[in-house]
Amino acid sequence: MSLSRKEKNAYWMPYTDNRWYKTNPRLLESAKGMYYTTSTGEKILDGVAGLWCVNAGHCRKKIVEAVKNQVEKMDYGLSFQMGHKLAFKFAEKLVSILPDKIEHTFFSNSGSEAVDSALKVSLAYFKAKGNNSKTKFIGRSRGYHGSGFGGTSVGGIVANRTQFGNLLNGVIHLPNTHIPSKNSFSWGQPKYGIEKANALNDIIEFHGKETIAAVIVEPIAGSTGVLVPPLGYLERLRKICSDNDILLIFDEVITGFGRTGDSFASKRFNVIPDIITMAKGITNATVPMGAIGVSSEIYNTIYKKNKGKIELFHGYTYSGHPLACAAGLATLEVYEEDGLFERSKSLEKYFGDAAHSLAKLNVVKDVRNFGLVAGIELSERTKSPNTLGRDVYTECFENGVMVRFTGNTIAVSPPLIITKKEIDKLFGTLAKAIKKVF
Ligand SMILES: Cc1ncc(COP(=O)(O)O)c(C=O)c1O
Repeated sequence: MSLSRKEKNAYWMPYTDNRWYKTNPRLLESAKGMYYTTSTGEKILDGVAGLWCVNAGHCRKKIVEAVKNQVEKMDYGLSFQMGHKLAFKFAEKLVSILPDKIEHTFFSNSGSEAVDSALKVSLAYFKAKGNNSKTKFIGRSRGYHGSGFGGTSVGGIVANRTQFGNLLNGVIHLPNTHIPSKNSFSWGQPKYGIEKANALNDIIEFHGKETIAAVIVEPIAGSTGVLVPPLGYLERLRKICSDNDILLIFDEVITGFGRTGDSFASKRFNVIPDIITMAKGITNATVPMGAIGVSSEIYNTIYKKNKGKIELFHGYTYSGHPLACAAGLATLEVYEEDGLFERSKSLEKYFGDAAHSLAKLNVVKDVRNFGLVAGIELSERTKSPNTLGRDVYTECFENGVMVRFTGNTIAVSPPLIITKKEIDKLFGTLAKAIKKVF
């Protein structure tokens, strides 16, 4: 199956070098479990769980059935001044796997919208407390928080910002935690870098704590090449935020739903933020959905301040969409029945060792891992340096394995159902591809 010129022209693909892709389009046609099948019949091992989202594997029967049944029963039901049972049931289920103190959920349709919701709720919280000057946000260099104006502003990826000018005012960035000179090839959390959190104290001193609403970070930065937090770093961020009445938001869009060996990274690292953003694995990516989990302190403050009217002037037509809630409920059941959060933890050692086995290749500059996610950073190459990651990715795909690349770093984050044999295939194919491309 090929694409016509008109079809290629009509579809402007996101975050894609459209010219490159459309010169030699690769089309996915179906998916089951750990594998895609392409339009030309090749089976591709999915080493990235779709886009870090199909945590239970593709086309799980229980989830597919739940969505089919729901679409026949009620395709849509609104959530403004009206409700349906599934949304309440799903919210309750979500709260049961979130860390203690995160007791309320608000639904969006994507991670980007979850991030915007988290930022707006932070502002509403301080307004409700009468702290009108607390409006600044602190993000982090190399952070990714989606594509909305809020997420792009607090995000720390230069390429995502330069085309768009000013973005939000009043955003400051922490330095990232990447210290290759000390931490290269760390297995799990790196030893060095806790002091990177101290930059928050400097920002507070310079801008004044009375001007800052929230700090937002990914517990593990995913999109910029898998940066695992140094030991003690998240704990220190938490303490500085608490000491200065600043909210801490963990963006768990990637790290949620078992990726790190527990339901959420905040639980695995035992550091509880005030707000958690989530999406992707929330419905196993079957139906788009995002959400935020919010502490009782935030919820109650906004709720009590706004009696007799809408408490939060924020929401989406598809907040709590019945198909998404049906998919989400079935997804949580699959995670539980298959013990996938525990499985991710128990496979961590095998997966991490397999990732680190690539360290023996000269061109591998660093390997970073945690739970079922790993980043393999490659040295620059002299011929066509800009296309290195892409060439490794293409070589892997041609040999039946899907990975992801960001610059010179290859990321892997397979569905949590992956077997040891498939882990061997994933890293074996990657090793061969790296050797061939250099
Ligand atoms: C940490 C993080 N936050 C937010 C997002 C944005 O999610 P979405 O693409 O669903 O808007 C992503 C997407 O990869 C992400 O990794």
